[in-house]
Amino acid sequence: MKLIERNAYRGYSLYLMEGSDFSYVKDFLDGQREKLERIEFFYPYTDKELRNVLEEGYFVGLFDCEDMIATFAIDGDEEYAGELARIVKSCSGVDVGKAYESSGLMVDASRRGEGVAGFLTDVIVRRADSRSIAVCGVVHIENIASIATFFSRGFELSGVWHMSEGYDFVYLLRRAGGNAENAAIKSTLLLQNNGDCDKIKIDTEYSSIGDLDRHRKLLDDGYRGILIKGSRIVFAREKKGGIYE
Ligand SMILES: CC(C)(COP(=O)(O)OP(=O)(O)OC[C@H]1O[C@@H](n2cnc3c(N)ncnc32)[C@H](O)[C@@H]1OP(=O)(O)O)[C@@H](O)C(=O)NCCC(=O)NCCS
Repeated sequence: MKLIERNAYRGYSLYLMEGSDFSYVKDFLDGQREKLERIEFFYPYTDKELRNVLEEGYFVGLFDCEDMIATFAIDGDEEYAGELARIVKSCSGVDVGKAYESSGLMVDASRRGEGVAGFLTDVIVRRADSRSIAVCGVVHIENIASIATFFSRGFELSGVWHMSEGYDFVYLLRRAGGNAENAAIKSTLLLQNNGDCDKIKIDTEYSSIGDLDRHRKLLDDGYRGILIKGSRIVFAREKKGGIYE
């Protein structure tokens, strides 16, 4: 492993994890996964996938002194990046060519709610921007904490996929350089909350977390998921002619 930044966040240090760290990283992820109430929320890497992401991708680990407390990564798998982009395009029409999976998001159970995942998402986003690539998180459809983390950094719910009973996923996309309209729509929605809705030209719809069919229908109609409100996801689309009249 290589030090990227000492005291990067709340006194924790940021490292780049490499192929030689395979066993260490695997033990951390397996140990944390076993403790999850909903084990299906963290879809495990195969050994081959983990080796690949450590060797070919960008895998970061956050450490409190000697202890690993969190991980996040961008995969390097080009073929899968093409496949993710195809799924997103078929669901929402958004065509990014390739969407590299952001995977391995895990925060030690005792460190959640401290902003650690948000910090690591910023790290991943900076890396994506430096490479001008789109990234996409594939998240269990009921994993509110993870979906909220991606939304908090401007990712958009841009695809859905039914794998098998109990395994429905959402695709959270961040285009190369960011989803600029999304930021504009979000700030406009906040204005809307302050009663400035007359001027606003945004259509919003809601879909309950976990409602794959409704998510799919809204994506089909040109909406993208951008926020969580209570137990629902806010989907938004710009009306023709821009956000403001
Ligand atoms: C998902 C996970 C990584 C979030 O880590 P975390 O460090 O607790 O998250 P943060 O404190 O950085 O929060 C990031 C954002 O998500 C929001 N968030 C986090 N947990 C949330 C929850 N349970 N409900 C609603 N929002 C939540 C925060 O409010 C924050 O948004 P903000 O920056 O706008 O305030 C963590 O819960 C985890 O490790 N879960 C188990 C493994 C897992 O599910 N990984 C994801 C696989 S796809």
